Amino acid sequence: MTSLALTVKETLRYRGAIGQWSWVLHRLTGVGVVLFLVLHVIDTSWAVFYPSLYVKAIAAYQSPIFTIGEFGLVFAVVYHAFNGIRIIIFDYKPALWRHQSRAALFVLGATLLLLAPVFVGMAGHVIDFYVTEAAIAGDHVLDVVLFSIIEQLPFIAGFLAVLAAAVVLAAAFTLLRGAGRKAAQSSAVERFWWAFMRVSGIAIVPLVFVHLALMHVVQGVFDITAAGEVAGTLANNGSIGAAPSAVEFVYHRWTFAAGGFFVWRTFDFFLLVLVVLHGFNGLRYVLTDYTSFNDFARRTSVALCTIVAAVLLAVGGAALFVPLEENIIHEAMAATAEIYELRGEEIPASLEAYLSDES
Ligand code: HEM
Ligand code: HEM
Repeated sequence: MTSLALTVKETLRYRGAIGQWSWVLHRLTGVGVVLFLVLHVIDTSWAVFYPSLYVKAIAAYQSPIFTIGEFGLVFAVVYHAFNGIRIIIFDYKPALWRHQSRAALFVLGATLLLLAPVFVGMAGHVIDFYVTEAAIAGDHVLDVVLFSIIEQLPFIAGFLAVLAAAVVLAAAFTLLRGAGRKAAQSSAVERFWWAFMRVSGIAIVPLVFVHLALMHVVQGVFDITAAGEVAGTLANNGSIGAAPSAVEFVYHRWTFAAGGFFVWRTFDFFLLVLVVLHGFNGLRYVLTDYTSFNDFARRTSVALCTIVAAVLLAVGGAALFVPLEENIIHEAMAATAEIYELRGEEIPASLEAYLSDES
């Protein structure tokens, strides 16, 4: 039986001893957030490299299916963070181990306690949106989601190419180094990653909590448009373009500077590097646990995690470093008009005038 099947079977057989469940939940939440991160970093880079698609991707996120996912994501991040802190404390204080099950329950309790007011705040944004913009909740939701997903399909080819590259890399490695591992070398490397997971975990807590608080509670996912205030920038920026868009929201945040210092670009840079390295090393632990029976499968898992992490650091980093020009806001305008049309809403006169001037 593979170790994945064994994990599932044994977890169910123990019928939820709390230590076992907290291990499973830590693993599931970690992997869930990594998968989200892949989409999120690629999507975010479109604000700079492919503005029209960014507008459509964010419009799709503002639909009920993703709203449920958004609550799940926030739960996953908060639970994983609190449970991660518990793991770190227990690693350094083995005397506490006899309180394992009480600590696991405490983590769950603390997560729910923090999330209760956060979810009320997030639900407020959801209700506001559906009450004030009822048209979007109507028949056209699926149109926007499908339209956006179809346009994103070519990127699946990218994922397949990455998978193929991982297989080739694993095969090349096996040819060059032969089967098996060099124990001494790998244990020094593993000690580094063990410490890195703990240090990065602690450093990520303030970064990801501030990021989520700004996006979910202060701004609200439905207001990622720069129509009003843009969270984390001082001014009520108003709109530069003919209609506020999600691209403009990112533009305002990434060009916001205090004393010549780009606040959110720097913040996002540290967030990007830490979550990608922590998340993909964590994914490597998970995948290699289930592929350790076969050398080639294990190497393919390691290669896959390494390549995806490298691609995300390159693409996400490039988006943060290119100089931003206002033209990306203008490129987003045609896509904004398409979204209005799909939703069966009237295109604002200023946007219509802008587009007819363009053509
Ligand atoms: C649904 C929840 C989330 C929303 C709505 C959201 C929104 C955004 C937005 C609008 C940006 C653009 C840049 C900015 O304005 O600062 C951004 C960037 C970023 N977010 Fe999130 N975020 C969410 C969850 C997360 C989570 C859970 C993580 C970490 C695991 C994360 C990591 C990042 C990173 C690393 C960047 C920079 C990406 C790049 O360099 O291209 N976000 N996010
Ligand atoms: C918010 C702060 C965070 C803390 C305190 C934290 C802490 C930890 C700790 C202590 C571990 C165990 C490491 C080990 O077994 O040696 C871990 C594993 C992991 N983390 Fe995090 N983490 C955080 C955020 C994240 C984020 C944002 C992601 C996803 C991008 C993530 C993904 C993972 C994964 C996939 C694992 C491996 C799980 C397993 O082996 O079962 N973590 N984390």
